[in-house]
Amino acid sequence: MKDNTAAWLDSPYADLVVRDAPMPVPTSGQLLVEVRALAVNPLDAIIQSNGAVMYGWLRYPVILGEDVAGVVVAVGDEVTGFSVGDRVVAYAIGLEKGRDAVAESGFQGYVVVDEGLAAALPDSMPFEEAAVLPLAISAAAAGLFESDQLDLDYSILAGQAPRDEVVVVWGGASAVGGNAIQLARAAGYRVITTASVGNHDRMRRLGAEAAFDYRDPSAVGQIVEAVNGSPVAGILAVAVGSAEPCLRIARATGAARIAMASPPVSFYDQPRRRGLSLARMRLFLRLGVRTALLQLRSRTSGVRASFIWGSAIATSPVGPAVWGGYLAEALAAGRHLPYPEACVAGEGLSAVQGAVDMLRRGVSAQKLVVILAPTSAIS
Ligand SMILES: NC(=O)c1ccc[n+]([C@@H]2O[C@H](COP(=O)([O-])OP(=O)(O)OC[C@H]3O[C@@H](n4cnc5c(N)ncnc54)[C@H](OP(=O)(O)O)[C@@H]3O)[C@@H](O)[C@H]2O)c1
Repeated sequence: MKDNTAAWLDSPYADLVVRDAPMPVPTSGQLLVEVRALAVNPLDAIIQSNGAVMYGWLRYPVILGEDVAGVVVAVGDEVTGFSVGDRVVAYAIGLEKGRDAVAESGFQGYVVVDEGLAAALPDSMPFEEAAVLPLAISAAAAGLFESDQLDLDYSILAGQAPRDEVVVVWGGASAVGGNAIQLARAAGYRVITTASVGNHDRMRRLGAEAAFDYRDPSAVGQIVEAVNGSPVAGILAVAVGSAEPCLRIARATGAARIAMASPPVSFYDQPRRRGLSLARMRLFLRLGVRTALLQLRSRTSGVRASFIWGSAIATSPVGPAVWGGYLAEALAAGRHLPYPEACVAGEGLSAVQGAVDMLRRGVSAQKLVVILAPTSAIS
């Protein structure tokens, strides 16, 4: 095993800088993974652009990154499901409160991950294809299945006979949305979604029975018509601004719960610099007003609207059900597609900052991935 290197965020708003990092040591129940491919998430861009606003507990320098795929090079005590040499995809949760944001974050050559947040990869699946999954499938699972979110039944995730209940996924082409469509279908629910017209066939391939264009002003009406009186088990709102139309769907269909993946305002547009700029003050004002209005409107309509925290699955029964019970087998059987399609933004940790910048400009049905060369004796 060689030395470790990471893409460090030395201070809020700074560019990522590649330099040496300590070699993480797996503790009980953890795997040390040599990272072969990593993906970037909106969360990485948001933390870099907004400093401590959302993740006030982070201490700098810090390492970002949630999505990794690679090879297990060491295992901690009490690991039962994985061995050295296994190819895995894993959710790195170092940015979460109480975790080690250096050892357990993904933008580095070696990372430690919890055994329960890793899944074996089929031999034929390239690392870059799998690296698109971790945070997206975890957030989707949290939104659909956590008891304080949509609380859907996930007792059997094997595509059992469809129920007559519908799940609406607003933003199905997003990484979170595309994984939510597949998980909801695996749990037996019918799925209706929204996406740009060019992505409608993709949505059907993932299992949605109907897809509507979210830019069409009549999208809400079209969805209500497609529901056609069937019970709506819940609505997953993905994308900035999606909670409003989802609330209108809930009112019209009688759905009692909305799980929201995104804030009501975009954190992307902020200049990456310190201090309280006018733009930042406006952003927080809009955030406060829109959140308060949304909660007021949903409560007066009898709808429970809650924000998803993807890492909730790490400490609930949903994590083992999805990461342990479902994912490896479903990937091997082709029942869960690694969605979105990987778009390789570069090779080596020095390409990660460029990938985060590309993500800020927007993607459609793609996940930006960086490939890392093998560094250990195991290849
Ligand atoms: N709470 C959590 O734990 C958590 C975890 C992960 C992500 N998130 C949040 O979830 C959102 C999605 O993240 P992601 O990684 O899945 O994003 P992503 O894949 O980068 O999202 C891009 C996709 O979003 C779709 N989209 C954009 N605006 C939309 C709108 N107004 N209505 C419907 N779809 C829209 C686009 O669809 P088309 O290409 O079809 O136009 C595009 O393909 C972000 O806001 C992110 O911050 C939250």
